[in-house]
Amino acid sequence: MRVLGIESSCDETSAAVVSGTGDAVRLESLVILSQDVHRIFGGVVPEIASRAHLTAVVPVTRQALTDAGLPPSGEGIDAIAVTHAPGLVGALLVGVAYAKALGATLHVPVIGAHHMEGHLFATALDHADAVPPFTALLVSGGHTLLLDVAAWGDYRLLGSTRDDAAGEAFDKVAKLLGLPYPGGRPIEMAARDGDPTRHRFAPPMLHGGQKPGDEDYYDLSFSGLKTAVLRTVRAADAEGRLADELPHIARGFQDALIATLAEKTARAARAFGRARVVLGGGVACNRALQAGVQRAISPYGGTVYAPTPKLATDNAAMIARAGLWRLERGERSDASLNAYASLPIPGLRTS
Ligand code: KG4
Ligand code: ZN
Repeated sequence: MRVLGIESSCDETSAAVVSGTGDAVRLESLVILSQDVHRIFGGVVPEIASRAHLTAVVPVTRQALTDAGLPPSGEGIDAIAVTHAPGLVGALLVGVAYAKALGATLHVPVIGAHHMEGHLFATALDHADAVPPFTALLVSGGHTLLLDVAAWGDYRLLGSTRDDAAGEAFDKVAKLLGLPYPGGRPIEMAARDGDPTRHRFAPPMLHGGQKPGDEDYYDLSFSGLKTAVLRTVRAADAEGRLADELPHIARGFQDALIATLAEKTARAARAFGRARVVLGGGVACNRALQAGVQRAISPYGGTVYAPTPKLATDNAAMIARAGLWRLERGERSDASLNAYASLPIPGLRTS
């Protein structure tokens, strides 16, 4: 089966073609157009994002089809998968409306795909072994989810953030430090030159007394850490030392955040006896996070799989991959397919 994927949930307009069956799926093409315009606002402006998707979605899709060796009209595609939730509704509507129109023109089925389920499938496009069963840590700008994935479509939610998402914490701390948006990569770069002993922040929601069954055993929270960083930034600034302290503060922040994510992910892998941990979402690009999770699961013989940056951040390849799996099971969306700001991942259970 050959599936065209379309993603427009936030500030990336992306289209991709994948082909194959089961877990033998090949990436034929992937085009991602990032809307850099939002940088000047320090965050995504929804209406600007929608309008940018509207001008980009047709050429981006045509390019992805051409790169896959297909005519730009889309002949040769068996189905279309489009992100329909969660995300900015105006942005999602652009992709959904276009996918429906193209599906009607080509007489092929359309399936609405869940953006976070896409992130779960992304790493499998890079690593043939990144398939269930595994423990998943999804860390993006809008979501932070710790899941046990017994099989595709069978997702047990173990923990999530009580406040900011992990990527949001990176972005907010970057702003405090005067670093550009999005802040994850600038913080990771700055932290490489940082002294880990200079500013030690307590890893959030982590203490030795936590036991399985406790509400905070898997849950996450990052707003307290952000406030602790803010106090340190203010103190350094008052002494005129912020520029000197910046790499050390970035390092202290990143170490604390990673300590929590790594330990909670290792707890989940251990509890469910999973030998594989799959990372997903933009924060999964972070090398220190990848290394931290690997260190935490090594004592149990676990291996961490992280997507390449192109597949970690928002992209349509993961949407096509997740859609292909659902299409193979006979799932189809009908003409009433709509866009939703939030929606649980299909197949998600909490116990
Ligand atoms: O998955 P994604 O592209 O978009 C959402 O669905 O939100 O994630 C974007 C987030 C941003 O918060 C960005 O700062 C973060 O991923 N990010 C990183 C790194 N690269 C991107 N965070 C930490 N380290 C990185 N290297
Ligand atoms: Zn995402």
